[in-house]
Amino acid sequence: MVKATFLGHSCVSITDGHKTVVIDPFLTGNPKAAAQPNDLDVDAVLVTHGHSDHLGDAIPIAKRCKVPIIGVFELCNYCQSQGATVHPMHIGGAHTFDFGRVKLTPALHGSAVSGNPPIYTGNPVGFLVEMGERTVYHSGDTGVSAEMEVIGRLHSIDLAFLPIGDNFTMGIDDAVEAVRMLHPKTVVPFHYDTFDLIAADPKAFAAKAKDLAQIVILKPGESVEV
Ligand code: NI
Ligand code: MN
Repeated sequence: MVKATFLGHSCVSITDGHKTVVIDPFLTGNPKAAAQPNDLDVDAVLVTHGHSDHLGDAIPIAKRCKVPIIGVFELCNYCQSQGATVHPMHIGGAHTFDFGRVKLTPALHGSAVSGNPPIYTGNPVGFLVEMGERTVYHSGDTGVSAEMEVIGRLHSIDLAFLPIGDNFTMGIDDAVEAVRMLHPKTVVPFHYDTFDLIAADPKAFAAKAKDLAQIVILKPGESVEV
């Protein structure tokens, strides 16, 4: 059994009661953040891509907790250059850590740390996290993709976090198609309503996807157990 807590935007912490990981800890500057960076006590920090609304506070959290940042090689190189400990991986690869197993999945998106010039941080990814005998899928920022069919075939997903905010990621209708391909047992929509540009109605998503999976709408700070 695992408990996943939605901390706002795309930030999710997952615990099996012994170990805890956080994914995409964008808290500082997040108008919907349900925690502050110093609140988190984690065993690893997973980051899907280099955009500031995902990399967020990852580096200071990893340094304070003395734990690695897990992500793609190029993003890890950047984090290492900023003084963080890292565990680089790449798409399709999995590794067993002391807290559980992580596999990197493809995402259709970009990845860079903004600046002039921007620092490109490799391919964006999603994560499959196996903890507490459950599999949690965090898609990262992505459009719907045919790869989701394969992910759904290879993995029995207990809980999936999928974006519905449109503009930068898939919107509601494409997210429904993603659920169809991934066939997770439970889905939590995220990456919406943080900013006006990604306003979306999670109830509209739930109505369209309810025959495909259990849809759980979480407010920032709320948790689901699977
Ligand atoms: Ni992004
Ligand atoms: Mn984003």
